Amino acid sequence: MMLESLPRPAIFAHRGASAHAPENTLAAFALALEQGADAIELDAKLSADGHVIVIHDLTVDRTTGAQGKVQEMSLAKLRALDAGSSFAPKFRGEKIPLLEEVFEAFGNRTFINVELSNHHTPNDQLVETVCMLVKKFNLQKRVLFSSFHPRSLAKAQGLLPEAPRGLLANDGFRALLVRSFIFYFGNFQALHPNIWTTSPQQIRRVHRLGRRAYIFTVNKEEQMRKLFRWGADGIFTDDPPLALRVRGETK
Ligand code: G3P
Ligand code: MG
Repeated sequence: MMLESLPRPAIFAHRGASAHAPENTLAAFALALEQGADAIELDAKLSADGHVIVIHDLTVDRTTGAQGKVQEMSLAKLRALDAGSSFAPKFRGEKIPLLEEVFEAFGNRTFINVELSNHHTPNDQLVETVCMLVKKFNLQKRVLFSSFHPRSLAKAQGLLPEAPRGLLANDGFRALLVRSFIFYFGNFQALHPNIWTTSPQQIRRVHRLGRRAYIFTVNKEEQMRKLFRWGADGIFTDDPPLALRVRGETK
């Protein structure tokens, strides 16, 4: 599966099927595929000892009930935590995954958006290490890198030019520049804008550049309908079954 062969609109399971299973766990990714999502999205970060792990927040607090900063914890410490119970008792024992585990289990079965989420440590070795793993598993054509930081994506482009890149843009003033000039002049195959900034005009502008617009994070039926009508190329959602139903009804 390559970016070009994803269905339109594509359904990306945001942190896996995170409305139905603990976010960024193997259980959430497996469920997303079972539910029929076209792709999964995950947040990659480095442990203190340089392993790429999958977790959204800067701390382990919200998703594991323990306390600590991810960047200060070793892999062994992180792996000892329970990333499932705080979502629901039946997921007890789910671990914070290694990116390698996700690649191993799902790399040949789906398309993976790896968000380079080292926003607070942009000079660390995350991009280099992720690119090495993508090469090791030969997934250059089955991943889409994304980041809020154009510099991380430029680094990825230098190391692995054949893997496509999506530029994330939030709301706020800086994001306005990101969505316009930085996106326009940069080498990106997609824009990943925040839903609150997305308009039909913006989607048209992206299409005029021959690129794709993948919108985050879209969990409401009315929002999905509207974006699909506007021609969005895909959405990130916590609830793939809902998005699949709406896509079926809108076609
Ligand atoms: O990639 C879309 C979305 O995941 C970006 O925001 O904070 O959920 O990683 P966040
Ligand atoms: Mg993310």
